[in-house]
Amino acid sequence: MSVSTIDRYDIAQSYEWNYQHAPMADGAERAAEVPGEWTFCALRVVSPLGMPAGPLLNSAWIHYYAARGFDVLTYMTVRSRFRASFDPPNLLPVEGAPLMGEGSELEQAATAAAQSWAISFGMPSRDPAEWRVDVERARRGLGARKVLSVSVVASPEVGWTIGDIAEDFAQCAEWAASSGAQVVEANLSCPNVCTKESDLCLSGEASGEIAAAVRARLPREIPLALKVGLFHNEEQADEVLRAVSPHAQAICAVNSITARVAGHFGGLRRGIGGAAITARCLEETWMLLRLICAAGSPLRLVAVGGVMSGQDVRDRLAAGVEHVHLATAPMLDPNAGLRIRREWSRAV
Ligand SMILES: Cc1cc2nc3c(=O)[nH]c(=O)nc-3n(C[C@H](O)[C@H](O)[C@H](O)COP(=O)(O)O)c2cc1C
Repeated sequence: MSVSTIDRYDIAQSYEWNYQHAPMADGAERAAEVPGEWTFCALRVVSPLGMPAGPLLNSAWIHYYAARGFDVLTYMTVRSRFRASFDPPNLLPVEGAPLMGEGSELEQAATAAAQSWAISFGMPSRDPAEWRVDVERARRGLGARKVLSVSVVASPEVGWTIGDIAEDFAQCAEWAASSGAQVVEANLSCPNVCTKESDLCLSGEASGEIAAAVRARLPREIPLALKVGLFHNEEQADEVLRAVSPHAQAICAVNSITARVAGHFGGLRRGIGGAAITARCLEETWMLLRLICAAGSPLRLVAVGGVMSGQDVRDRLAAGVEHVHLATAPMLDPNAGLRIRREWSRAV
């Protein structure tokens, strides 16, 4: 892969182009200390800031953002076989009222500076032979105080049972761990994919079976995190949390909120990231923490979705999450992590 002179993901280009044109990791200011003691899946880290699966396409992107104030870096979701990306646009700026649930409508934004976008990649993956070598490279290039998490997903074929899907998840997880992942994240939710892997997190039975299969294949010291979408209601969330509690160490919520997107997508549903989902994701965080607490579950919660500012980070930590992850904000402004840390250390 070549190294480009750009400093951020170029939304006018394809996934493949951006995969090949990661910015250079050097030249960033030193990240300010964040006072306090922090963990991610019980592993010691120096700040509560991380990046979720997606923006970090490969090791070069991981090293770029590791130098920009993030201490947990999640490798974009990988599969047990090659999968091409959807055609561009993969990120389409959108505007409209904040999303308070699934299925509302958003307009294509007139300006690329909009703070929210429709995400449309279809979870592409390199072949395992390629991503496993690159995960090793990612880990080798990370400092001792950074944590590499690798997101995995199954690639169901027609006729597959949940057992088959769980086995495919487990195979990817085993490969990720043996390549250097310190945490494995099983992605149980992808809003843009129409096949079976898109909404596994809405079933307690499926989530429990997958979490158990993956846990059984991971070394004891590697924590398992589960990425979930917005639940339909509290009962459904409770059922899923109870089913996965014996097997997983953390829940990462929320994997975007879907909306019907006018303009280029012609009203198709797409997952939305950014400012449009800030308020609803914070509500979901409160609900999940309440359920985890009521069930006496050891699960930790990682807040994802609509975290755009230092205040958003503090709101989620105050609610009781273990770690906070940002995707859209640092893609719009690669120095968002450095800025949040600088403001924080000054305020303290
Ligand atoms: C460019 C991009 C690619 C993404 N790809 C994935 C992915 O492969 N797997 C996944 O679990 N989530 C993926 N996501 C979702 C993010 O992890 C995150 O849950 C979502 O963007 C909401 O966070 P945000 O509001 O900070 O963007 C992607 C998001 C973006 C922006």
